[in-house]
Amino acid sequence: ETDQPANDELAGLHVLVTAGPTQEPLDPVRYLTNHSTGKMGYALAQEAQAMGAEVTLVSGPVALDEPDGVHTVHVQTAQEMFDAVHGHFAQADIAIMAAAVGDFRPEHRSEQKIKKTGGVMPPITLVQNPDILAWAGEHKRPDGSQLVCGFAMETQDLLANAQSKLERKHCDMLVANDLNEPGAGFAHDTNRVVILTPDTDKNATAGENGSKIHAEPQPLMDKRDLAAVILG
Ligand code: CTP
Ligand code: CA
Repeated sequence: ETDQPANDELAGLHVLVTAGPTQEPLDPVRYLTNHSTGKMGYALAQEAQAMGAEVTLVSGPVALDEPDGVHTVHVQTAQEMFDAVHGHFAQADIAIMAAAVGDFRPEHRSEQKIKKTGGVMPPITLVQNPDILAWAGEHKRPDGSQLVCGFAMETQDLLANAQSKLERKHCDMLVANDLNEPGAGFAHDTNRVVILTPDTDKNATAGENGSKIHAEPQPLMDKRDLAAVILG
């Protein structure tokens, strides 16, 4: 399926990838979730494995087969995804957070199915989930030997929002998705993104707190090819 030549650019390195959505249960039969097929994260895991890396894939519920040769950890909630990343992060040389993590979860999870009796749905109080990417950015090895890459899904102000995420979450790379672009985002085999990296280049755009950002718009491409660009 892949026409990439075999290479060993990532031989000896550990790559940690998150993928797919999370599901935040409300009761035994209902949950809150995000749109995500997991295709981008699975493509990254497969590509990193093909490049010789040892890969751990922390995946939310998706309808994809586990990639060959990849250690796949299945999780449901954002908290479970955070716990799995927490347990694998120290060994990772490269961590790529491609999951569509639920920002909020219901504060209470009903033990029993919530009944419609009475006709009134009880109000749902939400609480915030841990930000896995931000945690990783904060806990990188101080010697700079760990790279953290995030994604950003935006429907407006792509560059400004993506720049602020890159800086706020201490990322070494941020892959920004404009959901208004045809062929981009979830449920497509292709993606169209802008890749942001911190840059000392004088021509770079100044971001928040005066730091410089380098923004590289990418053509519409297959997710596997994009994975190779991100890992290259
Ligand atoms: N992310 C994460 N944990 C979370 C939320 C987001 O690891 N609880 C990661 C995603 O995997 C992605 C990046 O953060 O790599 C950006 O996700 P996004 O939803 O675009 O950004 P947020 O920071 O959650 O901001 P908002 O949803 O408000 O735009
Ligand atoms: Ca979010």
